Amino acid sequence: MKELRVAMIGYGFMGRAHSNAYKRLTDFFPVSHRPVLQVACARNEEKARAFAANWGYQRVETDWRKAVTAPDVDLVDICTPNDTHAEIAIAAARAGKMIVCEKPLARTVAEAEPMVVAVEQARVPNMVWYNYRRVPAITLAKQLIDEGRIGRPFHFRSNFLQDWTISPEVPQGGAGLWRLDAAAAGSGVTGDLLAHNIDTAMYLNGPITRVVARTETFVKERMHTLTGKVEPVGIDDACAFIAEFANGSLGLFESTRYARGHKALKTFELNGADGSLKFNLEEMEYLDYFEYANTESHVRGWRRIHVTNGEHPYMNRYWVPGLVIGYEHSFLNALADFVKGVETGKPVQPDFRSALQTQKVCEAVLNSGREGRWIETGATA
Ligand SMILES: NC(=O)c1ccc[n+]([C@@H]2O[C@H](COP(=O)([O-])OP(=O)(O)OC[C@H]3O[C@@H](n4cnc5c(N)ncnc54)[C@H](O)[C@@H]3O)[C@@H](O)[C@H]2O)c1
Repeated sequence: MKELRVAMIGYGFMGRAHSNAYKRLTDFFPVSHRPVLQVACARNEEKARAFAANWGYQRVETDWRKAVTAPDVDLVDICTPNDTHAEIAIAAARAGKMIVCEKPLARTVAEAEPMVVAVEQARVPNMVWYNYRRVPAITLAKQLIDEGRIGRPFHFRSNFLQDWTISPEVPQGGAGLWRLDAAAAGSGVTGDLLAHNIDTAMYLNGPITRVVARTETFVKERMHTLTGKVEPVGIDDACAFIAEFANGSLGLFESTRYARGHKALKTFELNGADGSLKFNLEEMEYLDYFEYANTESHVRGWRRIHVTNGEHPYMNRYWVPGLVIGYEHSFLNALADFVKGVETGKPVQPDFRSALQTQKVCEAVLNSGREGRWIETGATA
């Protein structure tokens, strides 16, 4: 078994979710690479040491430049805020490392494009962690679509709703709150939440070609934790947009952090001539399927598929039928696919190039929100 020595950049939410995946990979998946938690990198040495000790990393670095060029590292995992992705990824590619980068790929298309060039020139395996593709119910939705069960698609609608920034007392910027700071995050709910829905949408229903959006910033000034001053808020607190897909279907997307009562309500529904599909992250082990074609009308109706059988995507790696897996397994499944891609030479998706397509849609949405008109995305398959 070969070693896959990992440098983890960032020890927050995603640093933990990914560390868990590396630790469990060979327990559940028949791959011939064994991840080794080699370097934990964070600016604060004490915190890096505590993280390294907790998860079993061999050593720590406080400068990501040292971590991404270290000879004892094969794979760089970027789990830092969005403003750091480009610089770290480009340096890691130049050092010849494999790279797995958190989403969104970068803050803007201009920042993301050189990242794609860097990994393609260096010919290093690369992936962006749009992990929801690896929720078995969503992978099953893709399978049903590819089997032709939905027929001609008409509508794709999708939400991602939260409620954690309603209070004007929530500051912006700094640890834990960089998502509210446009300089660090690039955008608000569009890059943070809708990027996931856009990736899922294009995975299931193909490229989004045009959008028209309305964005809103409900709280216009917040205390900035880094400057100590009340400063204008530059992110979109909420975003709703209409989309056209290349296949002729229409999309309707909504995201906000002001939907009181919702913590992470990520949903989609796809309606086609021959059937419909429905998913809700709060009940992520289910896929709802309405089969119209080939069904007599007196027994037609929505059916709930409990996506836990051995023949369902990824589920033969886990428990017996009827028993569920969770959020963390979407990262484990993604990592398994990445490593299989490395072993077979067949690049995993979404790689940097396909994540750039999602970035293009996000940017068109934000520009449309500012300009109030339809905007072509330039996104391709
Ligand atoms: N795939 C998903 O579902 C998902 C979920 C959450 C976050 N994310 C993405 O993951 C990334 C990180 O988000 P998070 O929620 O883990 O953030 P977080 O705030 O929990 O953690 C960020 C980490 O980066 C570290 N960091 C910041 N600047 C650094 C630097 N210059 N050098 C080294 N370390 C640095 C921080 O100390 C912290 O450990 C973001 O791009 C975010 O969009 C993806």
